[in-house]
Amino acid sequence: MQFLSKACIQGCGGMTRRALLKTAAAGAGALAFSSPTVSAQQALRSVAERKGLIYGAATAIQLLQSDQGYADLVASQAGMLVAEGHTKRASLQPDNRHFSFANADALLQFADTHQQRMRGHTLVWHRANPDWLETTMKNNPDERLLTDYIAAVCTRYKGRFHSWDVVNEPVDPDQGHPDGLRTKSIWYQAFGERYIDIAFHAARQADPGVKLYLNETTTEANIWWSQARRTSILKLIDRLLARNVPINGFGMEAHLAGFGVDYSQKVIADFVRELTTRGLEVLVTELDISDRSGPRDPLVRDTGVASLTKLFLDAVFSVEGAKGCLTWGISDKYSWLSVTPRFNREDGLRSRGLPFDENFKPKPMFDAMVAAYSNAPDRRDL
Ligand code: XIL
Repeated sequence: MQFLSKACIQGCGGMTRRALLKTAAAGAGALAFSSPTVSAQQALRSVAERKGLIYGAATAIQLLQSDQGYADLVASQAGMLVAEGHTKRASLQPDNRHFSFANADALLQFADTHQQRMRGHTLVWHRANPDWLETTMKNNPDERLLTDYIAAVCTRYKGRFHSWDVVNEPVDPDQGHPDGLRTKSIWYQAFGERYIDIAFHAARQADPGVKLYLNETTTEANIWWSQARRTSILKLIDRLLARNVPINGFGMEAHLAGFGVDYSQKVIADFVRELTTRGLEVLVTELDISDRSGPRDPLVRDTGVASLTKLFLDAVFSVEGAKGCLTWGISDKYSWLSVTPRFNREDGLRSRGLPFDENFKPKPMFDAMVAAYSNAPDRRDL
C-alpha cells in the first residue's frame, strides 16, 4: 500500500523587460482579461500579485495556438509561464548540430504579449535528453556537452527569464548512494556530484541576472521516504553553498497525492524554512494533485483536492522566503496526470487535479488557491 502510494506521487515530478513587467504587475488588477468565468480582480495572477506573490502555470505553445478558450484562460490567470516540454534538452537540441528554439521562442512571445514572466525548465536532467546525447555521454563523456549547451541556451534567453531550473531531480535515496544522490543519470555517471556545480557555474556565467534553481520532486509528504529526500536535498544544498555554487532557489515540484498519503503543515513549513534560512527562495514549481486513489464522485474528489491544496499552500506561504506557486497545467483538459500511467485512473475518468475543469470553469481547487494567496502574509510589506 505504502509502495503504491509512493509510486503514485513520485515525479515522478526601450523599457527593459523587468521595468515593463513591474509596470504590468502594478496595474494587473486593472488589466482587461477575457476569462468568461473569473473576473480580472479575482484572477489568480492578480490575487497573487496583490500579495507580492507569483502564480504561474506550465503550458505548451501548440495548445495556446489551437484552443482559444484555453489561451484566454492562461493569459488571464497566469502571471508566469513555464514550458511543459519546450525548454527540455530533447526539444531544444534534437540533434547534435542544431538547436530548435522555435517553440520556446513562441512561448516567450506569448508571455511577452500577456505581460507574463517566464521560467526555464530544465537545463540538466536525467530524462528528456536526446538519444544522440545519451549515446555520446556513455561512450565519450565530455564536460563541454554540458557547458556548451548551458552557455548557448542561457545566452539566448539572457535577461528574458525570471529563473531557470538548472538541475532537475538530482536526488533519489532509493538508488543506494550514501548521500541520496540520483546515480542513474548520464551526468552523475560521467562527473559525479560535480556535474551540479559545473551546471550552476555555467548558467551564472551566461546570464548573471537570472535566478538559478534546483528543482526536486516528492519532498512534500509526511512519510519516511519523503523525509529521506528532504534530508538529501538539504545536505546537498549545504555542500553546494559550502563550495560557493551560485544557487538562488529551490523548486518544490509538489505533484501531490490527494487520497491516502499524509501531509503535515508543520513538516512542509519546517522544510521551506530550512531552505530559506540557507538564503534560498522557494517556489512551488509543478503543483497538481493526483486523484488516482479517490472515488468516482467528482464532488468528493474536488473537495479532497481543494483541501490538500489549501493545507499545502497555507504551509508554504506562511514562510517569508516562499515566492509563489506554479501549477503543472491549469485545466483538467490538458493534464499529464490523465495521460501518465502511474497517475491515471483505472476507471478511465479524467484526473481533476488542476484549478480549472475541462470546460475552463474554476473548481474548488481554484477557490482554495485564491484563499491561500489571500491569507498569505503580504510580501510587499516584508
Ligand atoms: C512531464 C511532462 O508533463 C510530460 O508531458 C512529459 O511526458 C514528461 O515530463 N517533473 C518534472 C517535469 O520536472 O518536467 C515533468 O513533466 C513532470 C515531473
